[in-house]
Amino acid sequence: MNEQMDKVAVITGAGSGLGAATARRFHRDGWKLVLGDLRVEGAQALAQKLGATALACDVADEDRVAALVQAALNLHGRLDCMINNAGILGAIGPIGETAARDFNRVLEVMVSGVFYGTKHAANAMGDHGGVILNTASLAGVGAWANHSYTTAKHAVVGLTRSSAVELAPRAIRVNALAPGNVVTGMTSSLSGGEQEAYDRALARNPIPYVCTADDIADAFAYLASPSARGITGQVLVIDSGLDVAVVSPSYHQAPGRFVE
Ligand SMILES: NC(=O)c1ccc[n+]([C@@H]2O[C@H](COP(=O)([O-])OP(=O)(O)OC[C@H]3O[C@@H](n4cnc5c(N)ncnc54)[C@H](O)[C@@H]3O)[C@@H](O)[C@H]2O)c1
Repeated sequence: MNEQMDKVAVITGAGSGLGAATARRFHRDGWKLVLGDLRVEGAQALAQKLGATALACDVADEDRVAALVQAALNLHGRLDCMINNAGILGAIGPIGETAARDFNRVLEVMVSGVFYGTKHAANAMGDHGGVILNTASLAGVGAWANHSYTTAKHAVVGLTRSSAVELAPRAIRVNALAPGNVVTGMTSSLSGGEQEAYDRALARNPIPYVCTADDIADAFAYLASPSARGITGQVLVIDSGLDVAVVSPSYHQAPGRFVE
């Protein structure tokens, strides 16, 4: 018997990429699932395969996020895990050419969306505890050439930490993942398709490995599990070592010596 058999999770941005892989992984672990996505067709097709429920949800709309959480309560009577994952690339380009409207839309989706998800999930969890997991990014701990995205993901890290502190006494753990380059629709759209996105990531990663959506799903599954019972307010970077590589791995191949 799976110890998580009666547990219920809501996942946003579940129609493709990291969210869809996470839904498949949680389904294998026995979770009951409510999936939300702006483009609901993908989430509905997946929900049908998994025996889950999918709803159209723009996470930038608080009422839609509240309705997604309420659907979990109505259908299953509880909420144990909220995964605030929906995201967009948004306004790419020099800051001098970034329209305020575009910048603000990115913050609405990726900052307000995580705020709404955290707020309504925490209210739904009450005092029985739970887990809130946010998809940040390597751009949440470093800079990327997309100002709105970098700003939003840094804010996700801040909100993860502040809500983790507040919610800790209610046994609600809040953590974030910071993926590096994972080949999904999002990253492929930046390159000339999946192969180019993969090759570019491989060329940069210290570990000659490009993390997959399943690697991210595994990390979400771990953080949602009792094995992570002592972990809150943390940002887990999953990037084949990219964030720590301030020098190329080849630098370390030089002969050993002592420099006075
Ligand atoms: N792929 C990567 O390398 C990578 C790296 C770091 C972080 N991320 C983050 O991972 C998350 C998932 O991205 P992905 O790579 O799976 O991309 P993706 O494009 O495959 O999936 C994103 C999903 O979010 C949905 N979505 C977009 N706007 C929405 C909104 N307003 N409301 C609800 N749903 C919305 C899309 O319809 C899509 O199904 C995002 O937050 C992204 O920023 C991805």
